[in-house]
Amino acid sequence: EKFFPYQNDHMFAEQVAISELAQQVATPFYCYSQSAIEASYLDYQTAFAQQDALICYAVKANGNQAVLTTLAKLGSGADVVSVGEIKRALSAGIPAEKIVYSGVAKAEHEMEFALKQGIFQFNVESEPELELLSQVASRLNKEAAIAFRINPDVCAQTHAKISTGKAENKFGVPLSKAHIAYNRAAELPGIKIQGVDVHIGSQLTQLAPFSEAFTRIASLVEQLRQAGHNINVVDIGGGLGIDYQGEDLPSKQAYADIVEQTLGHLDCKIVIEPGRSLLGNAGILVSSVVYVKTGEERQFLMLDAGMNDLLRPSLYDAYHDIQAVNRVDKPLKPYDVVGPVCETGDTFAKTRQVHQSKSGDLIAIMSCGAYGAVMASNYNARLSIAEVMVKDDNFAVIKKRPSYEEMINQDIVPSWL
Ligand code: LLP
Repeated sequence: EKFFPYQNDHMFAEQVAISELAQQVATPFYCYSQSAIEASYLDYQTAFAQQDALICYAVKANGNQAVLTTLAKLGSGADVVSVGEIKRALSAGIPAEKIVYSGVAKAEHEMEFALKQGIFQFNVESEPELELLSQVASRLNKEAAIAFRINPDVCAQTHAKISTGKAENKFGVPLSKAHIAYNRAAELPGIKIQGVDVHIGSQLTQLAPFSEAFTRIASLVEQLRQAGHNINVVDIGGGLGIDYQGEDLPSKQAYADIVEQTLGHLDCKIVIEPGRSLLGNAGILVSSVVYVKTGEERQFLMLDAGMNDLLRPSLYDAYHDIQAVNRVDKPLKPYDVVGPVCETGDTFAKTRQVHQSKSGDLIAIMSCGAYGAVMASNYNARLSIAEVMVKDDNFAVIKKRPSYEEMINQDIVPSWL
């Protein structure tokens, strides 16, 4: 990979040797390449240059303040799903006018906060949410600019747990009920209709489901306009996949072309909410081999990183490429790569070919920039791990590991004990 290259069989992040980083920062840690983030943002910008498009990075993919600041400086907006994410985005310098608020069950206090900041758009998921938003906005004497998230009932052809656009999924307003929802919105105080929103799933590896969904959305926009609604924004969500295992994926340009073909004639502002395709391949998880254990049938590489640090393989059977950081003169061997957590599911890969490794060697788990650190937990009383950002030949710790005291002191023992 371009931003995590090998030089003389040693892996680097840009121009910093991973082994050098590991001497400064205890493993396991996440390592991000700032140049990789910038390059993929610029790819999107170039792809959408001919369209009136606002890129709203999906903060849920990786909410580290250094990541958000990198994107803020490039002019990115943010797609957020909670007050916490709004605060993160604002504090990184992303202006409220570039924030769209998705979020499946927005709470009243969250709406209130977002309204006071003056965000660009609420993506409303249901009619009860609309009613509450109208009440809150009226009480505050504000106007909420809204789009309904429409569930277009298309199959995203991705993992069931990250597929969101089928009728049976909890997300959005069904296409067949969209008219009722928009008519109701038009009656309510404190609500300004401005757009339509759709997001059909994540890690899409083909363009066909996008074009099917966008085509349905385009005809809905035309119908809504005929019914007298003012629609000038189409938010097309995120979802473009990345190559986890060298798959062939549609380029950002091909994706932008589909958007132009299906929605271009409407003359709407296009909002895109990419997460994984901006961050996924910009980060790795660096871990050390604690033991190499020979079992009855296989060899285990037992790492100091576990499922609590990187959940995707356990939760989705996700494939992540696994590389020895130092490959000098080492043959490939099949290993089960596992973590230290007391669960069978704490497995990163089975019978995977990795260059022969021994205790103390460094291992890189690739494509961990999105949905890695953000999905971590403290299961097994394991501390959350450090995050590091590299730019050219510099690096900085962008999140440090807490101490055990800090972890323990979050709990409060009642006075009667
Ligand atoms: N917009 C909305 C409304 C979303 O729900 C999501 C992701 C995105 C944008 C960004 O999608 P992306 O471009 O990253 O595909 N934890 C899972 C992924 C969950 C995605 C949830 N929604 C994973 O690790 O694969």
